[in-house]
Amino acid sequence: MVSILGISAFYHDSAACLVVDGEIVAAAQEERFSRVKHDHRFPLHAAQYCLAEANLTADGLDFVGFYDKPLLKFDRLLETYLDYSPSGFRSFLKSMPLWMSEKLWMPDLIRTELAKVDADDDDERGAKKRGRKFKWKLLFGDHHESHAASAFYPSPFAEAPILTIDGVGEWATSSIGIGKGNELTLLQELRYPNSVGLLYSAFTYYTGFKVNSGEYKVMGLAPYGEPKYAGAIKDHLLEVKDDGSIKVNQDYFNYSQGLRMTNGAFDKLFGGPPRQPESTITQREMDLARSIQVITEEVMLKMAQYVRKETGMKYLCLAGGVALNCVANGRVLREVPFEDIWIQPAAGDAGGSLGVALAIWHRYLGRPRTVNGQDAMKGSYLGPRDSETEIESYLKSQRVPYTKYSREQLPEIVAELLAQGKIIGLHQGRMEFGPRALGCRSIIGDARSAEMQSVMNLKIKYRESFRPFAPSVLREHVSEWFELDADSPYMLLVAQVAPEKAVEVTEELTGFEKLKVRRSEIPAVTHVDGSARVQTVTRETNPLYWEIIEAFRKRTGCPVIVNTSFNVRGEPIVCTPEDSYRCFMRTEMDYLVLETLVLSKEKA
Ligand SMILES: [Fe+2]
Repeated sequence: MVSILGISAFYHDSAACLVVDGEIVAAAQEERFSRVKHDHRFPLHAAQYCLAEANLTADGLDFVGFYDKPLLKFDRLLETYLDYSPSGFRSFLKSMPLWMSEKLWMPDLIRTELAKVDADDDDERGAKKRGRKFKWKLLFGDHHESHAASAFYPSPFAEAPILTIDGVGEWATSSIGIGKGNELTLLQELRYPNSVGLLYSAFTYYTGFKVNSGEYKVMGLAPYGEPKYAGAIKDHLLEVKDDGSIKVNQDYFNYSQGLRMTNGAFDKLFGGPPRQPESTITQREMDLARSIQVITEEVMLKMAQYVRKETGMKYLCLAGGVALNCVANGRVLREVPFEDIWIQPAAGDAGGSLGVALAIWHRYLGRPRTVNGQDAMKGSYLGPRDSETEIESYLKSQRVPYTKYSREQLPEIVAELLAQGKIIGLHQGRMEFGPRALGCRSIIGDARSAEMQSVMNLKIKYRESFRPFAPSVLREHVSEWFELDADSPYMLLVAQVAPEKAVEVTEELTGFEKLKVRRSEIPAVTHVDGSARVQTVTRETNPLYWEIIEAFRKRTGCPVIVNTSFNVRGEPIVCTPEDSYRCFMRTEMDYLVLETLVLSKEKA
């Protein structure tokens, strides 16, 4: 038996992943355990969980892989800062202590941290355990290679080109590679500071959202606007070549030097300073969001077209933070002649932990891949699950009343509540790996309801009212309801609602008023441009979730429900039953389902 622990940490979204004899046994992000959103610290709790899932101790590992090469990154930081000093000095000082004390001493740091996994007792025995020597070998992956490995190795394809696009790794910001069997070769890369991810982040900053997490909001805001600034972006900010590579004009940006992403020249070009976070969103931000979204789609399409032409291969694998841009992904699927594309659900840096672990198994150890038409992600349900006994004893300790149903009854009960318009917290099975909740740590509701979108945003999630919700649809029925006839198990593809399900819009409004217009039979999941971020659900990967939606379909004729992540704004998605119960009590959710135990707000 060969056990490999993959780790990504110290940038954002730390995570750990355990691969045993080539099988992905467990994977989780640290934030879910520490409850610190995008936690970047060493993923001690996630590693602890992964080892426990396989009944392993830290001594039982054969390999530990880290997802990037800290020295290369240090080299990039140093060169960038030397280039731009002295104006870059402030941010340099801010990031230096961390690099000096942690990143350069990575091998020691990883050993010390992993020694804590099973030795947190404060006595002499604990100290001795923490000081022990490990036999495992520590290997470092290349940042984009880790992304590429996470996209290709678990994919259902025997061979495929791989496109990775993110902010920045060590030097690369995007790469093209080829996977064949167990081999993976990176052929080309785009280098810092020419970065699609950083460009998108600069607009995220400029429109008043948080860099590295608000990119999703920019994408959600885009359909409210017009691409008014796309011309200015292309004339001044970047050159897009035919192969999709870009050259970014650094005169307008500050990301290599400062803590701000954009500078005075940028402000001048777009007519003013950045929007203050939390202040009113105006038409200008909507237009800026639409403009950068349109440019990103153009770049991604060109990159994908280039890959298709150069390799002549049938399928495509995608990863890197920009691969979470599901609007662009949907266009790649529709407009580039690949037969199918597969996107790593943990496309951001968290997925690097999985990539490096699989790269050690397949590349370093040369073990073959088996391809059987399914991907190897197990629906991305790779996190912890609590037993019903544990949940019951927790609820009893809190003196919380609940009703216990049989596994057979449960889908009918939940479907009936959904049909009555109730909003339900659904906590069942193993927690999802990656940023999306896929029916195991989800809040669900009736997609046919016109009020659901604003009620969920304002009373449950406490977040901006413009943000759309995503549908979970039975795979068997996806093409009847959406212009999509493909698997989208990870909610990473956007498609239009099918014309047969659209309703005629008699009066079009502007700005956020657009939200009030009913556009389809499933208004709660239809964005203002008639699109939806689809998750297809199959019985094989998530039986209970499938049965709930099927029972809802039998009652209502609609195989679509609303699925949003189980959390409130600013908090990580829930992990334990305790997290779920707390979140349930803090919001206006009507019911909480913990496996087969159902809690009602009225009785709680
Ligand atoms: Fe990355």
